[in-house]
Amino acid sequence: MKFSHAVIEKNVLLLVVLSLITISIGGLVQIVPLFTVESTIERVDGVRPYSPLELAGRNIYIREGCYVCHSQQVRTFKDEVERYGHYSLAAESMYDHPFQWGSKRTGPDLARVGGKYSNDWHVAHLNNPRAVVPESIMPSYPWLNRPLKYADMAEHLKTNRIVGVPYTDEQIANAVKDLELQAGALPDGDTSVVTARYPKAVVGDFDGNPAVTEMDALVAYLQMLGTLVDFTKITPEDLKQ
Ligand code: HEC
Repeated sequence: MKFSHAVIEKNVLLLVVLSLITISIGGLVQIVPLFTVESTIERVDGVRPYSPLELAGRNIYIREGCYVCHSQQVRTFKDEVERYGHYSLAAESMYDHPFQWGSKRTGPDLARVGGKYSNDWHVAHLNNPRAVVPESIMPSYPWLNRPLKYADMAEHLKTNRIVGVPYTDEQIANAVKDLELQAGALPDGDTSVVTARYPKAVVGDFDGNPAVTEMDALVAYLQMLGTLVDFTKITPEDLKQ
């Protein structure tokens, strides 16, 4: 035994080849079973693609680097569940491209922040966090009050469809209109078509500015985070495949 091991240790090529074989076996044991189950992500009622306004807000969230300080993943630990709510399900980020799980929490986890504060609170907080949380070290984002660019919204939906998000032709055709309706920019518009296409979407003029701003989009996104799944109706059995 001693001899054979010395042979491996003295022959770099042999060591590399044998290491690769060993790692491959470990990898196969982990990965192959995933192909045999119908889906590695459990389907959960309520999870839907982002509305155009939420998707635009999400793009701003990524652009501003919010993920650098905020995670969007409640882990399965008692302290996390007590603080943030039910642990995150894989299905809750199945339409995220790219996902926003994050790896660092300078600020709190945001996976379930939707509905926790009013729209006004978010607007004031993003403009200047210290206006509502005096000890906050979060940066101010006052430039979010500028108009949102959304003429190409249908293209964003189409691109998401290419990577597997099931946007319908109807949703793509109505992307710009749905965005304006959700942001309250069409005063006589029927917003029920938006909530029919995107259940639980939060409709409103978020920042009080009649124009559709980046702030409107970002707050619409924050307000829906973690609200799609009704956890009072989910039992542990539902989460088993
Ligand atoms: C430098 C780190 C940092 C960055 C970048 C950052 N935040 Fe924060 N955030 C914090 C800290 C710290 C807190 C806790 C204090 C507070 O509420 O302001 C916080 C709190 C929050 C809260 C309240 C969460 C809760 O449950 O009370 C929200 C919402 C939020 N941030 C959104 C954002 C968004 C959106 C962005 C990007 C535009 C962002 N943050 C960027 C550090 C950051």
